[in-house]
Amino acid sequence: MIIGVPKEIKNKENRVGMVKAGVLALTQNGHNVLVQSGAGTGVGISDEEYERSGARIVDSAKEVYDRSDMIVKVKEPLPEEYPLLREGQILYTYLHLAADERLTKALLERKIVGIAYETIQSADGSLPLLAPMSAVAGRMATQIGATYLQKDHGGKGMLLGGVTGVDRANVVVLGGGTVGINAIAMAVGLGARVSVLDVNVPRMDYISDVFRNEVTTLYSNPEQIERSVSKADLVIGAILVPGAKAPKLVTRELVSKMEAGGVIVDVAVDQGGSVETCRPTSHEHPTYTVDGIIHYAVPNMPGAVPRTSTYALTNVTLKHAVTIANLGWKEAVQKDAALRKGVNIALGSLTYEQVAKDLNLPYEALRV
Ligand SMILES: NC(=O)c1ccc[n+]([C@@H]2O[C@H](COP(=O)([O-])OP(=O)(O)OC[C@H]3O[C@@H](n4cnc5c(N)ncnc54)[C@H](O)[C@@H]3O)[C@@H](O)[C@H]2O)c1
Repeated sequence: MIIGVPKEIKNKENRVGMVKAGVLALTQNGHNVLVQSGAGTGVGISDEEYERSGARIVDSAKEVYDRSDMIVKVKEPLPEEYPLLREGQILYTYLHLAADERLTKALLERKIVGIAYETIQSADGSLPLLAPMSAVAGRMATQIGATYLQKDHGGKGMLLGGVTGVDRANVVVLGGGTVGINAIAMAVGLGARVSVLDVNVPRMDYISDVFRNEVTTLYSNPEQIERSVSKADLVIGAILVPGAKAPKLVTRELVSKMEAGGVIVDVAVDQGGSVETCRPTSHEHPTYTVDGIIHYAVPNMPGAVPRTSTYALTNVTLKHAVTIANLGWKEAVQKDAALRKGVNIALGSLTYEQVAKDLNLPYEALRV
């Protein structure tokens, strides 16, 4: 198979879909890898290094898409990339379709096979290809929240951990999954007063076991959310209902009840956001203010730390890339139930039920 690795073009997205180890593994399995010139610059991998690992460097994204059977990327294609996709081509990347009807329709029209990292799901319900990026984004969320709470960044001028004799900040984390627990670990480490709201009681048991009295676990319902968020200095949105649009847990009215200069980091923005006032921003213009509350809602947060996140991501994506390349996508998904769940689009059919529901488009079960 010919595997293509284009350069990412999303704003300030410096990650790349494959590192040298991936090129080596695929070429050792008898495949050819085409890498767009400059694709690894943001991570410090030069064209020459890719070549030494066995890749062929090509000049343009068009050439990568024209010649490859499978495209391995990081972020979903942007409109200028839609026309490059070819019928029957495998697109293996993050897709987040529930939040993007235009992309979904474009992928259906192009009749590609869209395998989404974020919906590949193990038997225990975990999302192994989302987890490393969620860990990165969760850790960043607290760092970013702490920065925007500073007066010089427009915030209320508060140190997360306070100092002796002065109260610390209230951090409220909505969702105690991978993003949530990583955000919590950083917030606890910085000395903040931390609460987490979730609907998964065993998960909250786990968080209580790990963090003991340093974190308050609260069952997530509208009353509890209202009570916690209205007193929060920093709210971190970390909800996920797999494949679905994020539920809007924080209303506009509730945002207005927070004290001015507070900060919301809605990590779940890639699934539409868990805060009513949330809309996607970019690394170039990461924040906006509503009712005096700073909103940070960058959908590709890990793109800002590409050296950490590219390796964390490709550590978990490579295994499936090799299987798909070796067996073809149909046999690969027949043999691997987790990978099968990743197939969101198959040759003109929308094969992920929750996405179809969210976008009100027809669903067809995958038939392979
Ligand atoms: N912005 C970014 O750059 C970025 C990066 C990585 C992940 N994400 C996104 O962050 C979100 C969270 O990802 P994750 O890996 O932590 O998911 P996860 O599945 O590990 O955790 C989600 C948690 O939300 C909880 N939850 C669901 N409904 C809830 C509700 N009504 N109230 C409270 N909790 C609820 C679940 O029980 C679960 O514990 C996802 O949308 C993911 O795509 C964004």
